[in-house]
Amino acid sequence: MCGIIGITSNKPVSSAIISSLRKLEYRGYDSAGIATLSNGAINEIKSEGRVDNLEKNPLIKNMLGSVGIGHVRWATHGMPNTINAHPHSSETVSVVHNGIIENSTTLKKYLINKGHKFKSQTDTEVIVHLITEYLKENDLKNSILKMLKQLHGSFALGIIIKDQPDLIVGARRGSPLAVGYGLNENYLGSDSYALKSMTNKISYLSDGEFCIIKKNQVDFFDEIGNKVNKKVLELSSTEENYDKGEFKHFMAKEIEEQPITLKNCVKEYIDNINNDINIHNFPWKLYEINSVTLIGCGSAYNSCLTAKYWFEELTTLDVSVDVASEFRYRINRFKKDTLYIFVSQSGETADTYAALDLCNKNKMKTACIVNVIESSIARDSNFILPIHCGPEIGVASTKAFLGQLFVLYIMALKLAFLKKNITKDNYILKIKDLKQLPKLIKETLLNENKVRSAANTFAKAKGSMFLGRGTSYPIALEGALKLKELSYTHAEGYPAGEMKHGPLALIENGMPVVVLAPRDKYYSKIISNMQEVIARGAKVLLITNKSKDEVVSENIWETIEVENINDDLIPFLLTIPIQKLAYYTALKKGHDIDKPRNLAKSVTVE
Ligand code: M6R
Repeated sequence: MCGIIGITSNKPVSSAIISSLRKLEYRGYDSAGIATLSNGAINEIKSEGRVDNLEKNPLIKNMLGSVGIGHVRWATHGMPNTINAHPHSSETVSVVHNGIIENSTTLKKYLINKGHKFKSQTDTEVIVHLITEYLKENDLKNSILKMLKQLHGSFALGIIIKDQPDLIVGARRGSPLAVGYGLNENYLGSDSYALKSMTNKISYLSDGEFCIIKKNQVDFFDEIGNKVNKKVLELSSTEENYDKGEFKHFMAKEIEEQPITLKNCVKEYIDNINNDINIHNFPWKLYEINSVTLIGCGSAYNSCLTAKYWFEELTTLDVSVDVASEFRYRINRFKKDTLYIFVSQSGETADTYAALDLCNKNKMKTACIVNVIESSIARDSNFILPIHCGPEIGVASTKAFLGQLFVLYIMALKLAFLKKNITKDNYILKIKDLKQLPKLIKETLLNENKVRSAANTFAKAKGSMFLGRGTSYPIALEGALKLKELSYTHAEGYPAGEMKHGPLALIENGMPVVVLAPRDKYYSKIISNMQEVIARGAKVLLITNKSKDEVVSENIWETIEVENINDDLIPFLLTIPIQKLAYYTALKKGHDIDKPRNLAKSVTVE
């Protein structure tokens, strides 16, 4: 995580750096800082917490300098306080860093022996002292090359140097970094999003490269110092809406926007005239794909888990699902006839990117399902399937999750049809149902009184459980994840059939338990599992779908009924109440809903 910005210009840069840092807060909000070069010295201002705190520093307004770097931090090494905030500076060098330096302890010992004094607990500070040390006897380029050679780990760096007052150095290994081009000024950013308000002309550094950015010139170098030519790419100029509008939080807005997300998905992927699914320019022949591996983290992983049921139910393909951080280090048996699908809202998640990179290096077929189409994962996949849901600002993923489910479902359905695993009639029927989703989600969103009042109980509870079977199991995991991240209380998602193998011991009198029990083939089984927890004192919030038949069960604390649709698509509707439950529980507890503690929107460290 951590966000980096750098600007070299012919006018003061501090206020432009602060505005960019606000945009970058989705990458971390533990602390923020800025350093500029002026009057032959490095000036540094840092503060704990949000960019707002940094801006409140009275010295910021008068901060001079037409070359500067800024940073928002998500703490890895060292507490989130002002001393550990970036930039880190010596008399001569100032550095901002995203990533982790794995050999920082060894490097620190070496530098201390050479007489360098450290101020912070961060891994980043070794970079400052390495460059300071090498600059004593080397020119800039060689000092940077020598410093980069010493570092193990992944990083994106922005560096300014007292004696080189017209430039910024950028360098990357693992973590992404972009350069933007302006009129008499140029920029460095941890991604193109940070630069979009200043320019639409961008180049990306490739892994191992570094660059020297002056206001009218940018030079790129590879890891041995040879000059590299770069393509300048043009970003789309689509105006995106980053406004909360009438809503108190982005999360509330993003939950309510879900009918529009699904409408956009239907518009992009469904051919109304031919009742077909549009997946244009799919680069492989059908017979080349016999299995699918779905990879993601967090909510994206939960969407993959849901899709596993769909692929199994609809197609004859072998399907496996993996958490990206596990996949990247396992001994994988790569198979030429497997399609590896990477799911990520941001498209910048470090573990998901590393898993993709591993597949690319092994020459596998890679596709991605992303929201941010200019992201690293989108750029480096063989094939992109966007989810078209617009910017998702709240750290808790909501509309992106439904967008991911949609694209995964149409992938499964289309492959099932093309591989002749389902009949044309069935295919058309399922497409018709898909078109109902925006309307049904809208109706389900209106039904919120019960979930709102249930949130009062969850807000007081020590912990809770979410149970499901079939596709409702990953939705239970998603419900528990949402509640954990927003309410800061323990919540577990379980396949209901597993309860008696251990977790049932956790149930005590009054413990709230969400049971996701749509009227699908698992219904009677999960109703029995529900009775088992009720018998042990659980307060069950049952979430099911509307039906003519009453729920035949006793002692249920509360029942919420979502709209009705075919069994495949029920997960979309079950997701709505569990999102609202997490939102209202956090609201009741007075938490910072859009920026929950210890988290960041884009997880760019492994
Ligand atoms: O940007 P990504 O979809 O790759 O992010 C993956 C996870 O970090 C993300 O889904 C996270 O779990 C959410 N905060 C959950 O609400």
